[in-house]
Amino acid sequence: MSNHILNKENKKLITIIYFGFGSILIIGSILLISYLYGTPINTFVAFKKMPSVYYMNYDTALLDDSEDNKTIKYGFELFRNTPKYIGPDSDNQEIAYAGNGLACANCHLDNGTRPYSAPLIGIIQRFPQFRGRENKIGTIEERINGCMERSMNGSMMPEDSKEMIAIISYLNWISRYAPDDGKIEGTGFLKVDMIDRAIDIEHGKQVFLDNCILCHQKNGHGIKSADSITYLYPPLWGDDSYNNGAGMTRVLTSARFIKANMPFGTNYNAPKLSDKEAYDVAGYINIQSRPQKQNPEKDFPDLKKKPVSTPYPPYADNFSVEQHQKGPFKPIIAYYKQQFNITKTK
Ligand code: HEC
Ligand code: HEC
Repeated sequence: MSNHILNKENKKLITIIYFGFGSILIIGSILLISYLYGTPINTFVAFKKMPSVYYMNYDTALLDDSEDNKTIKYGFELFRNTPKYIGPDSDNQEIAYAGNGLACANCHLDNGTRPYSAPLIGIIQRFPQFRGRENKIGTIEERINGCMERSMNGSMMPEDSKEMIAIISYLNWISRYAPDDGKIEGTGFLKVDMIDRAIDIEHGKQVFLDNCILCHQKNGHGIKSADSITYLYPPLWGDDSYNNGAGMTRVLTSARFIKANMPFGTNYNAPKLSDKEAYDVAGYINIQSRPQKQNPEKDFPDLKKKPVSTPYPPYADNFSVEQHQKGPFKPIIAYYKQQFNITKTK
């Protein structure tokens, strides 16, 4: 009788050992394969497939040369190679609306079709919309000119100009499969945890030296293409970069862009930088000198709607300009919640 029980126990033990070894073998081989092929482990666990709208055809080269398609193709060219057509060094100074060497596609990656890179698929359906910066309902033309005056450090394109019409035609074309409300997963940028301290400039500089200078160069000025007008690697600061009124100068916004997209080739499913690294390097880039926006005090007629990491005054609070530039942002966010019941995220 006691022998029988022992046998049963033994069998149980053998089964446990069997399964134990089995799982170790399976987990071990996954680790080994991922090590050998350099695949990050979270690819197995957390790979997030985006809605099918991101996988449609957005290659303008496949369009024939009908009049409408010519306009779409010109819009694409303006978006991809902006400085060549409307930049300060372009041939036609009459339409030199842009004031720097950046292209729209430098920040709206894959020509506006990449998730977590402020994709513009569905943008036509998302407008008109309420805008805090102007405190009114804004049109798509006004939104494009928002990036024109800030990200491109330029001047407004007339709404009936050939260039504005072409850019909108291109955006309309990449929006053709978007839902009626334009709401798509992956708009904006990737979330970054709110770090409970000011940016650490020394750490940010180290992250920059380790991860960014191969392309953007140690002086942050990037590398021009052979045509000496467009950039192979765009400037992060200096005269040819975005001005201090741009969304990218807000530490919280640029940390989110960087986490999802940089170093170039990073997949949003497997960010290369940690949240702290993205936060500090965004801080380092944005304390460098860059063009200054004209009349910055005219932005945000309702100051309560100004994002907390906007680096220029005035504000609807008494925190210093420096704290709005470099954080910590948590106390400012808490203030708006308590004082005005407004939940700030950027
Ligand atoms: C320096 C980077 C940069 C450049 C260059 C740039 N943008 Fe933007 N753009 C942004 C950021 C940042 C946002 C805000 C995204 C957010 O907060 O969701 C934005 C938002 C937009 C939006 C609204 C997106 C939305 O989902 O509501 C449009 C439209 C737009 N940009 C068009 C353009 C066009 C057209 C150009 C070129 C003429 C351009 N941008 C150049 C950074 C840039
Ligand atoms: C392998 C080259 C490469 C590396 C390394 C790299 N970038 Fe970029 N970066 C690019 C390219 C190329 C673009 C423009 C993308 C496009 O036009 O499709 C870009 C665009 C940007 C932009 C928006 C445009 C601008 O000029 O402001 C920012 C901000 C940026 N990178 C920050 C960083 C930071 C921070 C790092 C390091 C953590 C980094 N990049 C590392 C190639 C690189």
